[in-house]
Amino acid sequence: MSPVQGNFEQWLAVTVEHTAEVLDELLPPIEADGPARLHEAMRYAVLGPGKRIRAALVQAAGEASQVPGAANAAQGLALDGAAAAVELIHAYSLIHDDLPCMDDDDLRRGRPTVHRQFDNEALAMLAGDALQPLAFDCLVQMPIAPALVVQAVQLLARAAGSDGMVGGQAIDCASVGQALPIERLQQMHRMKTGALLEASVLLGGVVAGASSTVRTGLESYASAMGLAFQVVDDILDVTADSATLGKTAGKDAAQGKPTYVSILGLEGSRELLLGLREQAQAALLPLGPSGGRLRELADYIIGRSH
Ligand code: IPE
Ligand code: IPE
Ligand code: MG
Ligand code: MG
Ligand code: MG
Repeated sequence: MSPVQGNFEQWLAVTVEHTAEVLDELLPPIEADGPARLHEAMRYAVLGPGKRIRAALVQAAGEASQVPGAANAAQGLALDGAAAAVELIHAYSLIHDDLPCMDDDDLRRGRPTVHRQFDNEALAMLAGDALQPLAFDCLVQMPIAPALVVQAVQLLARAAGSDGMVGGQAIDCASVGQALPIERLQQMHRMKTGALLEASVLLGGVVAGASSTVRTGLESYASAMGLAFQVVDDILDVTADSATLGKTAGKDAAQGKPTYVSILGLEGSRELLLGLREQAQAALLPLGPSGGRLRELADYIIGRSH
């Protein structure tokens, strides 16, 4: 993506649109002689109106890490590839999260969930399965030094796997009806959601060649925002309505999910967010003005209404 001047809303709108275009190009076409329904389901899941926060984090971290004057077209393409890769893993995680064997949800991004839309659970599962290797294929095509590609692949693989998103989802499924100790809840949130958010920030840094000072700042920022993102999700599940959320509100309490709200209450959860926001902003201080978009994204993630 070429650098976008202007205010945060403009920058985010351009990033969202650009990400959708890159994803549209990457996804397999729907052709009669291929697995047309599978490709249709993959495209439906990925190209729905997501907020693209993970892609925005990749791009913003890239901007924060680039040596001024050294940014080039190949780096831009690589950031686009990394941003698309995390969105593909994220979309796959949402398809599976919505399945009847997990959260059993009918609504996602303001539309029927994939298994509902296609009235076919196996197809939904397979669409999620297929998005995962596509994400890694996308990373290996990044036009940057092979050593950086290897780092990026490892980062995303670990964030998506059993010590990251999938592991967190397993703890989530096993915790229904339990009042988890706060440390265990935090671990679950850091894994199921935080890991991919963190990977988004760190991928931007890897691709754009972040210095070690910048990398340290990115790590602390990413750790705070990763947890904050799921705390906000827990709060919105209680305070927002389904039309605003684009997904069924009130599901966590209805399903007996342990959340920050169920354990700390709304006020306690909001106080925690203030602390995480402070951690994120403090982490960006050494980056100076180049951390501007990440700073704005932190406020957006914490203040979002859906
Ligand atoms: C929802 O993520 C799932 C969680 C990890 C909490 P988002 O809120 O980023 O979902 P989209 O991509 O905007 O639909
Ligand atoms: C899901 O958390 C995290 C994922 C890995 C998809 P939730 O189950 O709270 O996400 P939503 O609320 O359905 O989007
Ligand atoms: Mg879930
Ligand atoms: Mg869910
Ligand atoms: Mg939720």
